[in-house]
Amino acid sequence: MTICRTTPKTLLEASNQLRAGGVVSFPTETVYGLGCDTFNQEAVSAVYALKSRPKNNPMIAHVLDISWVNKLCTGWDDKCEQLAQQFWPGPLAIVLPKKENVPLAACGGFNTIAIRCPNHPVALKLLELFEAPISAPSANKYGHISPTKAQHVEEEFDGLVTVLDGGPCEKGIESTVISMVNTPTILRLGSIGIEEITSVVKDTEILTSSLQTNSPGTAMRHYAPNTPTKLLHKKDIGDMCDKKSVVIVIESMPHKAKHTIKMPNDAGDYAKKLYASLREADSVGATQIIIEKPTCAPGWEAVLDRLQRCCAE
Ligand code: TXA
Ligand code: MG
Repeated sequence: MTICRTTPKTLLEASNQLRAGGVVSFPTETVYGLGCDTFNQEAVSAVYALKSRPKNNPMIAHVLDISWVNKLCTGWDDKCEQLAQQFWPGPLAIVLPKKENVPLAACGGFNTIAIRCPNHPVALKLLELFEAPISAPSANKYGHISPTKAQHVEEEFDGLVTVLDGGPCEKGIESTVISMVNTPTILRLGSIGIEEITSVVKDTEILTSSLQTNSPGTAMRHYAPNTPTKLLHKKDIGDMCDKKSVVIVIESMPHKAKHTIKMPNDAGDYAKKLYASLREADSVGATQIIIEKPTCAPGWEAVLDRLQRCCAE
């Protein structure tokens, strides 16, 4: 069995597996991660191989609390402290120069490292038992849809990876990534909104362009189903939809679809359901997936970012 019910025994086994250089999937509040020992280069390589992830795509190191950041980075200043005080444990990854002894491999060859303290009891218990940072990308094959349930991880890796089951993820999309190396810069939109960040660190830049190279994991095509996927305005869905299409809608109700998935009209609830819905849409043998474009209102930025990337060519 690869999906484990989380108990004190399976948590201990998982931490022993990490200590032996193994790979373990664990839940966080955002998505499931594929964890390994940050300081074990072979374990890090195993994660890249399992995901078929380009080696220049850096991983996030997870910590138990603020006291662990000095194991990993330099340059932790007052602004970082304020961000961590406000948002940790939680979905914010902070990028800073890495310490010399942190393997370059764990940082995609960069001399910086992204650090976050996850807000999930299973992730925190695992960190407490392991007593060291755990590097973990989302537990999906490179470019595919991130997993928000243990079952999704099992599907991604054909049962090859131990998964600690922590139920469905509360947030459903990944953490916000902010670089604090120079000017505070949001590299990836995520579960913590722009306004929340700027309320703590004013004059934060937002770098979400597909052209940016500061964060290779933000490639334009990402989070993508295998079925061709389009993002359309509500008014265009009726024309484009046929009996072989799956639609993921908020308000629109086309008559002809093969399968319809109704989404909530609240950004947080939508985010929580998004990846499971994309997987469902991908599983019904449709020729295309049509997604109704949600409003561009504040609070929807991260959802829109993910939808654009999952539809990109
Ligand atoms: O919510 C999350 O962050 C999840 C859970 C498991 O914690 N993890 C996650 O990891 O989404 P991953 O590897 O799928 O995405 C990490 C993102 C990528 O966009 C990567 O480019 C960026 O973080 N990143 C990591 N280290 C970085 C660094 N040193 N500099 C710039 N960007 C970095
Ligand atoms: Mg990912």
